[in-house]
Amino acid sequence: MIGEEIEVLYEVDSTNEFLKRNYKSFHDGAIVVAIKQTAGKGRMGRTWYSPEGGLWYSVLFKPKVHISLHSYTKVFSIAIVEVLKKLKVKAYIKWPNDIYYNGKKLAGILSEAVSVNDRVVAIIVGIGINVNNDIPDDLKDIAISLKDILKKKVKITYLLDAINKHAWNLLISYRNETENITKLWKKYLVPREGDRIKVKVDEQIVEGTVLKITEDTLYVDVGGKVIGVQSIHQLVE
Ligand code: BTN
Repeated sequence: MIGEEIEVLYEVDSTNEFLKRNYKSFHDGAIVVAIKQTAGKGRMGRTWYSPEGGLWYSVLFKPKVHISLHSYTKVFSIAIVEVLKKLKVKAYIKWPNDIYYNGKKLAGILSEAVSVNDRVVAIIVGIGINVNNDIPDDLKDIAISLKDILKKKVKITYLLDAINKHAWNLLISYRNETENITKLWKKYLVPREGDRIKVKVDEQIVEGTVLKITEDTLYVDVGGKVIGVQSIHQLVE
């Protein structure tokens, strides 16, 4: 189960960092929730603005069988989108794993592994969702919170519980079939196969058609040449 063991902190640097320091004291499936983070981390070394009102938490896994970090991230991105769908919020996954609504970022996921002597001993999935927090003016063009979409506040404990339950069910159902996680993830993904997109190749911006999307690569046909895109930095808005 996810969230049977739960630690709520009023303030912490980052729930991911907290679990990295303290994973030995928690069981598989434990979660750490922060009311606010003072040094929230985003992907690619970015900071993640985490004031009161948002849902900022990390889930600890101590897997006995190997499941890729990608798969954990995908499972949570699917769970978030499907729970939001129940609230009538049509969110989507912007490749590879950002949760967007109407061109603005609503949530993000940062999965990290802790290894000891080359063995993965803990997986930490950090989830950040703009729920009831205000988005600062300088981010209003690129980020949005649930309360602004729904025009009312949302119960954070409901969201937390619903996402964890759903993610757990997905993990159990797809444990040995990660290709099916990828299939489901593609259902909510933007861009989709066949879409025209712009990508950066050797500092040049070129346009092409998405031929195929695999677990970790977008294959784009640029004038007959197929390019494999693996970093969000290569995607041009
Ligand atoms: C992204 O860049 O999109 C990922 C953002 C992940 C933010 C969450 S908030 C809870 C957890 N703790 C962190 O420091 N980061 C993740």
